[in-house]
Amino acid sequence: MENIKRVTDADNVRLSEDEKSVVIIDQTKLPNVTEYLTLGTAEELYEAIQKLRVRGAPAIGIFAGYGIYCLAQTIRSDDYEGFRKKFHEYKEHLNSSRPTAVNLSWALNRMERVVTSNPHLSVGEILDLLREECVMIQQEDIAMCRAISEYGLSLLKNGDGIITHCNAGPLATSRYGTALGPILLGREKGMQFKVFADETRPLLQGARLTAYELQKAGVDVTLICDNMASIVMKNGWIQACLVGCDRIAANGDAANKIGTSGVAILAKYYGIPFYVLGPSSTIDLDCPTGNEIKIELRSPDEIKRGFYKEPVALEEVKCYNPAFDITDHSLITAIITEKGILRPPYDKALADMFR
Ligand code: MRU
Repeated sequence: MENIKRVTDADNVRLSEDEKSVVIIDQTKLPNVTEYLTLGTAEELYEAIQKLRVRGAPAIGIFAGYGIYCLAQTIRSDDYEGFRKKFHEYKEHLNSSRPTAVNLSWALNRMERVVTSNPHLSVGEILDLLREECVMIQQEDIAMCRAISEYGLSLLKNGDGIITHCNAGPLATSRYGTALGPILLGREKGMQFKVFADETRPLLQGARLTAYELQKAGVDVTLICDNMASIVMKNGWIQACLVGCDRIAANGDAANKIGTSGVAILAKYYGIPFYVLGPSSTIDLDCPTGNEIKIELRSPDEIKRGFYKEPVALEEVKCYNPAFDITDHSLITAIITEKGILRPPYDKALADMFR
């Protein structure tokens, strides 16, 4: 257990000292304020995911694992059936906080399986197993991000220009991140890349989080507005696109932050490889294509008020604010997971990977 504590303490999502709450960095306040939150109630945990205080598909999964473990400890029922019922209630509530990233339900289902497959154990024994499981989810993510980073780095050359969208770095995962993993690992090995970070409207994860993480790591990063992706590609400054993912369907269609598909379309036009990086927990073989992926719609206020002093549009103006879009599999050069580099046809490659 000592070893487990040391591993998790270093990360941006972790259990509190008394193990009754989850501690996160409030990502909505970065980069100007680094504030840690200690969250223990069902409402606090739900709100943190819904408001993107914790965000990024793998980080949401890790957070949910720890969160449901904390909630399980509060269940006042010594009989198995009472415990299982309340656990399921908590799970369904947390699971409804955001719909698109499959990692949320993946982690919660994994935790629930610990409960449902051990009806013969006491509640205390189940709690011990739940603790092991949520710590394992994070430890596995650390290992997966490292492997993804190694595979991703094998596709890059020293000095390459790279564009990325949203934030798929350490804050969104554990340690290296997914899309930023190869860049950070390359930096550790003495390589330099020229990274262009899309600001990522409307919530500016690129400006606030990606540019912050890369700058702090000593990577050459240039912040651009989303509508500047085309010009940097046309200028010949980009040799690869690296993006994360929130859910990958069985045919290789990939959901990621709104605007990702636009970058992929541009990349195809300019003949630049477009790589999607994510752990296998982001692959959802139950989802045949991107059409079946539920896209989260968020408040118009994020567009109209967001980070501006005054609203940028009239109160009565309608807004459409989808948080994600689907990149068609035909635009993706390779999908990089901890198990290797997958090339088209993705339906076969993905099915083989899970076989
Ligand atoms: O709405 P967000 O900020 O949670 O969206 C995050 C993304 O789209 C990331 O690219 C994705 O979750 C991968 S994070 C490794």
